Amino acid sequence: MSDLLLLGIETTCDETAAAVVRRRQGGVGEILSNVVLSQVDDHAAYGGVVPEIAARAHVEVLDRVIERALAEAGVALRDLDGIAAAAGPGLIGGVIVGLTTAKAIALASGKALIAVNHLEAHALTARLTDGVGFPYLLLLVSGGHTQLVAVRGVGDYEKLGGTIDDAIGEAFDKTAKMLGLPYPGGPAVERAAQSGDPVRFSFPRPLAGRPEPDFSLSGLKTAVRVEALKIAPLSEKDVADLCASFQSAVVDMIADRVRLALRIMRERGEKPTALVLAGGVGANQAVRKILHKVATEGGTRLAVPPPELCTDNGAMIAWAGAERLALGRKDSLEFAPRARWPLEETAPVDEEQPA
Ligand code: KG4
Ligand code: ZN
Repeated sequence: MSDLLLLGIETTCDETAAAVVRRRQGGVGEILSNVVLSQVDDHAAYGGVVPEIAARAHVEVLDRVIERALAEAGVALRDLDGIAAAAGPGLIGGVIVGLTTAKAIALASGKALIAVNHLEAHALTARLTDGVGFPYLLLLVSGGHTQLVAVRGVGDYEKLGGTIDDAIGEAFDKTAKMLGLPYPGGPAVERAAQSGDPVRFSFPRPLAGRPEPDFSLSGLKTAVRVEALKIAPLSEKDVADLCASFQSAVVDMIADRVRLALRIMRERGEKPTALVLAGGVGANQAVRKILHKVATEGGTRLAVPPPELCTDNGAMIAWAGAERLALGRKDSLEFAPRARWPLEETAPVDEEQPA
């Protein structure tokens, strides 16, 4: 198998993104372009992503984003080996826009189509950026997802734990909204927490001590609301203390659950080559710091893709497409977009695609 050149398209949430990535014969990746157009401003007034607005925005800009990604990479459609698009999970309107566009390009250019699971793309990014080998433990923490996954190969994933209610990023966003901080909430809460007192409020650490590495955020969110109402009106110091105490509870919960997941892998005789952090919450410095410690204590290392590759982007889709194509996998033009698509249901690469 020679070098592979892939175009990747990402439209599952509120970023319209396209990128060109090369995968060299030996498995080393190189990003030739990575264009991300964020819709954050379109959704800010609503304090969250509005699906209908997101889908329309993807329609408006995707063509030009793809054009720019190809131009910046200095690549023409005929140079490509395949077109990869995130086919789910995500907001279905956006997924339809990206996947249909990819199908049209694949059909017109005669190139392979690779329908990529968005979560798989997050899972495999550290192989592009850090050359991480299998198996590894993935902590995926974004606005829509909170999962601990044992990654054993391309298409070989086991979800060890997940959230039983809100995603961690979502909890940051809701906490921010509750405290009058701007959207997206994660960076705003982290900034406020820097000057706050993390022990002023003792918020719960849900599910600590449970045998499965699952997460629960809704009790914590309620606890923040109750305390905030008790001391309202909130001063700037109150907001900072609430943020710091909230973030401290989240960090403790993450550390405890990740320790457990590492232990589970080891008890099964697996030696994780790394703990990989992915998703927007991976930008949080307190989360990174504790995970570095947890990984080292657990006899492994922390691998975190750079921030622009932790959040949604086209390069991760192109790379996941390249990893699949290198193993001989393509998808048919009939592949249907999926709002829901658990990582474990991602087609293994050594099996035939159902007709
Ligand atoms: O991966 P991402 O860009 O989009 C998806 O949700 O797929 O993640 C966005 C999420 C938002 O909930 C945002 O508040 C959170 O990541 N986030 C953070 C930080 N930066 C972004 N959460 C905590 N601390 C941060 N510094
Ligand atoms: Zn994502």
